[in-house]
Formats: sequence, structure tokens, C-alpha cells
Amino acid sequence: MIDEKTEVYKAPRARKNISIFKGLLISTIIAILYFNFFNISFPFSIFKTNSPELNPSKIILDSLEINLAGNWSKKYTSEPHLAGTNYPFVEWTEQKFQEFGFDTSIETFEVLLSYPKDHDLKLLDPKGKIIYTAPLKEDIIDEDPTTHNDTIPTFLGYAANGNVTGQYIYANYGTKRDFELLKENDIDVKGKIVVVRYGRIFRGLKVKFAQDEGAIGVLIYTDPGDDGEITVKNGYKQYPKGPARQESSVQRGSVQFLGGEGAAPGDPTTPGYASKPGVERKDPHQSIGKIPVLPISYREVKPILHKLNGHGKTIEGFKGDLDGFNYTTGPTKYELNLYSYQDFNITPIWNVNAEIKGEKSNEVIIIGNHRDAWIKGGAGDPNSGSASLLEVARALGDLKKAGHKFKRSIVLVSLDAEEIGVVGSTEQGEYYAKKYQKEVVAYFNVDVSVSGKNLNLGSSPVLNDLLLETAKKIDYPEGGSLYEHYISNHKYIPTLGSGSDYTVFLEHLGIPSFDLGFSGGKNDPIYHYHSNYDSYHWMEKYGDKDFIYHNVASKYLALLALELSEKELIHFKLNDYAKGLSSYYNQTIYKVPKNWLDKEINFHPKFNLEQYKYMKEITQGHYVTPICKPMQMGIIHDNGEVMHNNNQHHKKTLKDLLHHTHKTLSFFNNVTETYDLKSEELQLEYNNKDELPIWKKFKLFFQIKYHNKGLQYFERNFLYHEGLHKRSWFKHIVFASGRFTGYAGQNLPGLNEAIEDEEFDRFVKWVHILDSTVSRVGHHLLL
Ligand SMILES: *[C@@H]1O[C@H](CO)[C@@H](O)[C@H](O)[C@H]1NC(C)=O
Ligand SMILES: *[C@@H]1O[C@H](CO)[C@@H](O)[C@H](O)[C@H]1NC(C)=O
Ligand SMILES: *[C@@H]1O[C@H](CO)[C@@H](O)[C@H](O)[C@H]1NC(C)=O
Ligand SMILES: *[C@@H]1O[C@H](CO)[C@@H](O)[C@H](O)[C@H]1NC(C)=O
Ligand SMILES: *[C@@H]1O[C@H](CO)[C@@H](O)[C@H](O)[C@H]1NC(C)=O
Ligand SMILES: *[C@@H]1O[C@H](CO)[C@@H](O)[C@H](O)[C@H]1NC(C)=O
Repeated sequence: MIDEKTEVYKAPRARKNISIFKGLLISTIIAILYFNFFNISFPFSIFKTNSPELNPSKIILDSLEINLAGNWSKKYTSEPHLAGTNYPFVEWTEQKFQEFGFDTSIETFEVLLSYPKDHDLKLLDPKGKIIYTAPLKEDIIDEDPTTHNDTIPTFLGYAANGNVTGQYIYANYGTKRDFELLKENDIDVKGKIVVVRYGRIFRGLKVKFAQDEGAIGVLIYTDPGDDGEITVKNGYKQYPKGPARQESSVQRGSVQFLGGEGAAPGDPTTPGYASKPGVERKDPHQSIGKIPVLPISYREVKPILHKLNGHGKTIEGFKGDLDGFNYTTGPTKYELNLYSYQDFNITPIWNVNAEIKGEKSNEVIIIGNHRDAWIKGGAGDPNSGSASLLEVARALGDLKKAGHKFKRSIVLVSLDAEEIGVVGSTEQGEYYAKKYQKEVVAYFNVDVSVSGKNLNLGSSPVLNDLLLETAKKIDYPEGGSLYEHYISNHKYIPTLGSGSDYTVFLEHLGIPSFDLGFSGGKNDPIYHYHSNYDSYHWMEKYGDKDFIYHNVASKYLALLALELSEKELIHFKLNDYAKGLSSYYNQTIYKVPKNWLDKEINFHPKFNLEQYKYMKEITQGHYVTPICKPMQMGIIHDNGEVMHNNNQHHKKTLKDLLHHTHKTLSFFNNVTETYDLKSEELQLEYNNKDELPIWKKFKLFFQIKYHNKGLQYFERNFLYHEGLHKRSWFKHIVFASGRFTGYAGQNLPGLNEAIEDEEFDRFVKWVHILDSTVSRVGHHLLL
């Protein structure tokens, strides 16, 4: 039974138009008084324009004809720079931004971090005799100077301290399903150490599921079976002699429970609020584990897994490609002793913010990249992105120096502590939540900008058109445009999950975001993710000779920022969002159990004051109409009339509701299409504004302002104040990271999770939330 509420607040249409008209009239009078009072000669002051001689995109592309990405990469990969360390890199980054003409500031937070101190892993025979001690080290490679000295030990951020001994089980990828399969095969992991391979889901969730099943420790290794074609078995040489994985390479990483139920991203001691000095700290164990975990290379795990051969069960889907291991689950009488010890401290971290102020200073574009790496190098992750970010700064700086006045503000941010759990971005997003929700138009993320040649994008659909149109203006190094390259490999731009710094912007604050980067394809060199071999040498030799793709990424980002900043009408396409919604919805309801469809829905929507207030605040009152009393609401019909559920004549079934939502989505598709057409129309009028009489210029000015606010705050509407089921930090009802995958996106999480959990009432509640949200936004956008 549900007594949850829906939220639909809709002023009658006629009144809204009157209010817009009144608003326009009053604003015009005020504006005229204002301009006269300050003795500003209009019409010139209404719309500021740059000198027509300036060609901004040419200035940017010319500036990036010189490619300094390799220089910045060399600098960032020359010393260790784990989260909360290497303050000289912070200062150096700030100084570069200043040189390029940005105003800068350093934002400090104090967060829980863990640093490696000691670790050990021993294999014991049934008599308890030590028969193997894993070195837990990556090889030194002569050709690769990064590996010579000063390297960071292999470890996993936030892995609990502990010294455990016990039998061990091979648990495949350690997914929720893998643990279910073990149970179905009577393999009990309780009291045992679990050995899992990397892949499929975020590593922290492997640890969460193991811990939930009663395991006492976890060992995570990289299986060559997950390296595709480029393996030693297929005749390729290992790095540094060839493109295959170096056998001693170890993937470090965070084992925070990112995206898992009960967990929140960011500092685990301050879920949902910023880690400034003196704040209350909570027990972090909702978001991090209690059992020790170590990462290990495939060479080192072999003697351990070989002992399982022929013991336990063979389970379908558990097979990888490790030499000499036949993938039986164990256990045997052999045991592991696994010891991990780290320093857990509340430590300062530093984000470097750099801004060029635009004329519309409350319309801001943020471009973020994190600076911290798990290893001394990090030529791919994250410092290919850091190099690209500095190149973007240099190009935009050149444009500013040429005398260009930016329309919107552009903020670049070099973030700290992403690796440990998107901490730097989350704390900053939480700290500036109100400001960001008020001002930010979009967040652009670049993490690994290059680890190969194939462009990958992930985005909120409102940005799809911007991404694709801008890609047409850039050459792809192997011929054709970047756009042609992208569409030859992708049918559409996927949505975002988690695993990088856009998480707080999109999923907590409702700010349209995208993520971009070039990565390797099936036959490209193996990228040594989070290993010492993610080094400058690897990048120069295998990843991106001459840093050409770094340069393409920089050009792309800079032109994206330019287009979104300089086009008078915010370059969003709402109809792409509507189409996306319709397709996620179709993909979802297709999974609804057939026997749910004729079930009666027992639902009495009430006016939800909390959600109303929340919406009013985060859309600056834009998507609610303050002069009208919020109505007692049910569902809105296509003609704008309200269907009051409480005085219905006949009972509704789920089928009726689903059908209604289909219609709501179709209506939404129609109004967004019209809204987008209006954007184009206004842009056209703007382009020809010099022909307009003064009063029409004024009218256009306010029309554009109003229309742009509709675009700027559009995505905020899809936040729900209570957040997702058991994941209240995640507020977005359309996009979330999967609760069982961490990285991968889950569209319409409320609906899909209710289906997975077979909870009918919860499903109905989430359909109502979706329907009423879409209906409310659609009616607002009606022109
Ligand atoms: C960039 O690196 C190249 C090659 O090492 C060097 O010649 C050049 O002076 C460097 N430029 C800057 C601006 O650091
Ligand atoms: C590491 O080696 C480099 C070059 O061989 C040297 O410049 C640097 O000082 C060394 N670092 C440490 C901490 O020994
Ligand atoms: C960890 O436990 C093992 C087995 O009990 C013991 O031999 C070893 O000394 C312990 N290591 C540490 C650092 O406490
Ligand atoms: C796995 O290896 C063991 C020992 O080498 C052998 O006895 C067993 O038959 C193998 N099992 C499979 C399924 O290949
Ligand atoms: C979803 O399904 C409805 C009804 O079958 C259809 O009209 C609509 O076009 C579909 N949406 C998409 C994006 O395919
Ligand atoms: C949307 O527009 C199409 C085509 O004009 C029309 O057939 C359909 O009825 C409209 N849907 C709604 C819900 O208004």
C-alpha cells in the first residue's frame, strides 16, 4: 500500500500567459528606467556583442595548432600525486591557470583518506606451512623511468585493516549474481577469503557483496581472459616489448561502495554534506567495508588459484583465461593469510578553481578533471585529462587575451581525491549545492582523455546535439571528422552511470553533464589502468604517440565550451531528452511481470509540499508558478485538466497507469519539440537583431532570458527530494549508477529496481513520480 504523494503543480494556462505578459511589461519599464538612470546609451547595451573581426573558434584552433599536452603530461607524471599529497602540483596548476588569464582560488576540504603502510599475502599448505609469499610488487622496467624509484605500493583505497587467515573460494567477478550462483551450488563463502577477478562491476561492490555473504577477506586480480585479443597467448609480447599486459601489473583502486545501497559518494564520514573543518563526522561503514582486501597481478595469483584445480564446483560463466587454472571454485585445505594495513586519516585535499567571468555571470559552465592518481605516473588516468584541461585553459586564455568577451562564465576545476571515491568533486558539489543549482548550465567532465583512439561519450541527452554538432567541426586524425568517426562506432550517445566526477553534478544536483575521452578498441594496446605502467613512457610509445589525441580532446572540449558559452540561446535540445525518456520507459515497462498489469492500483496522491518547496528552490521558482496556489493534484490530462484520483468512478489498473504515462511522454515529446523550435526561432531573431526597432529588441531580450532559464533549469526538475530507494543521496529519477554495478548507468532507477525487487506498490509509486514530473515540466514548457 502506498501513501506516497505525487507532485504536479500547474497553473491554469491562461493565467500563466497573463503573468508572463505582465512580467514582460513590468521588466521592460524597469529596464528602460534602469538604462536611463545609468545613462547607458541603448540599444547597444541590451545585447553586448564582440567585434565581428574576432573569429573565436579560429583563435582557439590556431592556439591549439601548437600542442603542449605532452609537456603537461610529463610534468604531472614526474612525481607521485596521490589524493591529498603533492601540494607543489596544486600550486603549479594554479599558476598555469593564472598565466593563461584565469582568476583562481584553491578550495580545501578535510576528508577521510587511506594511505598504504604494509601488506602481506601468504599461501599455507594444509599443515600451515608457508609455501608461497606473493611479492605484491610490480616489476621495474629499464625502459620506463616511472617504474625505477619512488613508486606507490599496490593497495586499495579505503580497504579495511586486518590480518585474516582462512580457506579461499574463487568467486568469478564477484557480482551479486556470482554470489547467488555459488550459493545455488552449495559453495559457502562464510568465514572464507574470496578471490575475484576484475571486471563487470565496480570493485568496491565486489567487496560489499563478499562482506554481505560473510567473507573475511578479498583478493582481486586481473584475468588475461578479460584482455580480449591482445594477450600473450595470442602471440603478443608484454609491455614494454609489445602491447600485451605486463604480467606483474596490478590495478589499484578504491573499494568504496560506490552506488551501492545505503552508500553515498564522497567522504564516507560526511554523507550528503561538505567536509569542512569542524563538521560532524559519521561512522563511515555505510559506504566502506570492514574486511581487508588486496589487489594482485595475474602472475602472482597463479600459484594460489592453481591449488583450487579440481576442487569445488565448475560453474558456467566462471571461466577466464589464466594459464593452468581450470576455474573450479574450491575450497581446498590450503589457506591464505592476507594482511593489509593502511593509515586512515582526516586529511586536507585541494581543488583548484579557475574562472573567466562572462557577461551572464549567473550562467556558468564548469569543466572538471581530477589531478590525483593511484600511481606515480597516471599518464592516462587522470593526467591525459589534466593535460587536455591545461590546453583548454591556454586556448580560452588566448581568446580572452585577443579581446573576446565571453557571454557565459567558464570555470575550470582541477579536482583532488577523485580516485578514492569521487571525493573532491562531491564535497565541492555539496558545499556549493545552492550556488551550483542556481548558476551552472552544464558540467563537462574529462577524466582519462586518452588511452586509445576511439572517442567515447556519455551524456545527459540535452547535450547530445551540442556534442554531435561540435564534433563536425573537428578533424579526426585518421581522416574525416570527429563526428564521422563517432557515428561509425556508435548508434547513440549513452547515458552516464558513475565512476567519475560528474556524479555529484548530474545525480545529486540535476546539472546536465557529459564525460568524454578516447580509449582503445579490441585490437589496440592494453591500457594498464591504475598500474605503474600507466606511465609517460607507455603513453608515448603505445597510447598516443606525439599526443595527437590529447590535442583532439583539447580542441573538442574548448569548442564545446565556446559553443555553449557563446550561443545566445543555450544549446540544449529538450526533445532529445523526451525521446530518451520514452525509450528508457519502453525498455523498462517491457520487463513488468504480466500478472501485474491487471492489478488494481490503490493510490491516493496528495499534494507533496516538500517536493514543491524543493523544486521551487532548485529551479529558482522557474518551474512552479508562485502566484497560483499549488493544487491538490493527481495526474494531469493532455488537455491540462486534472484527473482527481480520489473521486474516480472506476478502479484503475496498472495497465491504465502505464498507458497514461505513455500519453504523458508523447505529450512531452510534442511540447519539447515546440520548445526547441522556439529556441531556434529566437536565435534567428537574435542573429538579425540589428534590424529590429528598439522596443522589439527589448521584447526579444526578455523572451530570450525567460526561454534560457527554461533551458538552464530543465534537468533540475528530474530530482526527487527524498532520493532513490535506499540511496537518498542519489536524487535523479532518470539517471543513476546501478546499485549492483557501481559504474554502469541505470536509467529510470526507481522503476527498474522495483521490478527487480518484485515490489508492485513501489513500482506504482515510481511510475507516478515519473508521470507527474513529466506532466508538470511539459505543462510548464507549453508555449
Ligand atoms: C615542450 O616540450 C618540448 C619538447 O620537450 C620543448 O622543446 C618545449 O620547449 C616545451 N615547451 C614548453 C612551453 O614547455
Ligand atoms: C628517482 O630517479 C630520478 C631519475 O633517475 C631522480 O631524479 C629522482 O631524484 C629519484 N627520486 C628519488 C626519490 O630517489
Ligand atoms: C598476521 O597473522 C599471521 C598469522 O596469524 C602472523 O603470523 C603475522 O605475524 C601477522 N602479521 C602481522 C603484521 O601482524
Ligand atoms: C582441473 O584440474 C584438476 C587438477 O589438474 C583435474 O584433476 C581436473 O580434472 C580438472 N578439471 C577440469 C574440469 O578440467
Ligand atoms: C515507446 O512506445 C510507444 C508505444 O508503443 C511508442 O509510441 C513510442 O514511439 C516508443 N518510444 C520510442 C522512443 O521508441
Ligand atoms: C503529439 O503530436 C502528434 C503528432 O502531431 C499527435 O498525433 C499526438 O496526439 C500528440 N500527442 C499528445 C499526447 O498530444
